[in-house]
Amino acid sequence: MMPVSMVGRAGELAELDRAWSTVVTSRRPALTVAVITGAAGVGKSLLVAAALEAFAPRPAVVLSGAARVHSPAPYDWLAAVLTGRDTSRLDLPRDALAWLAQQPTAPRERYPPGTLLRLAVRVVRLLVAAGPAVLVVEDLHALDPASLNLVGELATAGDLPALLVVASRPAEDAVAPDLAVRALARLCGVRGAVRQHLGPLLPAEVAEVLTQVYADPRPSGRLVRAVWQRTGGNPYALTELLAAHAGRGPEALLRPPPVPRPPRVVPQRPVDAELTGREIEVLGCLVAGMSNKQAARALGISVRTVTVHVSNLLRKTGSASRTEAAIWAVRRRLPVSAPADG
Ligand SMILES: Nc1ncnc2c1ncn2[C@@H]1O[C@H](COP(=O)(O)OP(=O)(O)OP(=O)(O)O)[C@@H](O)[C@H]1O
Ligand SMILES: [Mg+2]
Repeated sequence: MMPVSMVGRAGELAELDRAWSTVVTSRRPALTVAVITGAAGVGKSLLVAAALEAFAPRPAVVLSGAARVHSPAPYDWLAAVLTGRDTSRLDLPRDALAWLAQQPTAPRERYPPGTLLRLAVRVVRLLVAAGPAVLVVEDLHALDPASLNLVGELATAGDLPALLVVASRPAEDAVAPDLAVRALARLCGVRGAVRQHLGPLLPAEVAEVLTQVYADPRPSGRLVRAVWQRTGGNPYALTELLAAHAGRGPEALLRPPPVPRPPRVVPQRPVDAELTGREIEVLGCLVAGMSNKQAARALGISVRTVTVHVSNLLRKTGSASRTEAAIWAVRRRLPVSAPADG
């Protein structure tokens, strides 16, 4: 199944575009904040990506980082930003840069927290330079406290020629809800901050997605309503449902999902250097369109462990979503095979 393109969210896109214009046309360097919240899988990341793609003029600099849930570390956002970036010309102490980038060779010596925060802000300033820049903070709810502090500092510093776009699940889903509440409040309190809370897709938007996948015959109104109810209009649930029934006609969406069976895995064949045996098994589950819960049941491991494997898989395969990771596996003919229909 090919990934579907974004439906709806026109108002949000336009508002983000206006915020970008404010940054670009401002006479003095001034930072604008945009905070996008919403439930898991509601489409925050896709909206950010779509907005970024549409920005005109193109940002001179984009610094984007997400919480790396499998191994939270201080300044994880900045470490993600620095990954693969040439920092040799930045006027900063090498050992501090190595530390902030979480390089394995970094000296173990500890910097006082205040010093590190100042250094981290300076790194961002140097990277942004004259801008105009877009700073993307994905998954704020899962960020480490040091990163939250850094994002708050950047937002309130005010004089960076940048749009700071923050995506977060609601604070109650956060690793540390009280810290997330405080960070979100600080961001939303910045003058002129754009605040968007994404809700589920409307039935007409679900219909649009279904039409992308099943053009002929057009999905019936009855089918659209049933799918909308079944997924609650959540785009992630919708893509999972579509993936689970890929290759069948639209009416299959109304049938109960196939009972997942553990995927057949041939671990001996060398696959791709970096994937572990367990990750390949989990990837097999993604190919089979299973949810994390179903994969956990199929493999006899905890949902939390599956979540960690999925997050590693996304990173290692460079995929933005589980559907993309599944497509990646299929394209490379990995030795994973979907369980038979049960
Ligand atoms: N408006 C939309 N139209 C079509 N598909 C969408 C839309 N929004 C999201 N999707 C799809 O739904 C899935 C989840 O979206 P996305 O990853 O953006 O959600 P999220 O809110 O960032 O989730 P999380 O809280 O897990 O970070 C993706 O596969 C994405 O392509
Ligand atoms: Mg996201």
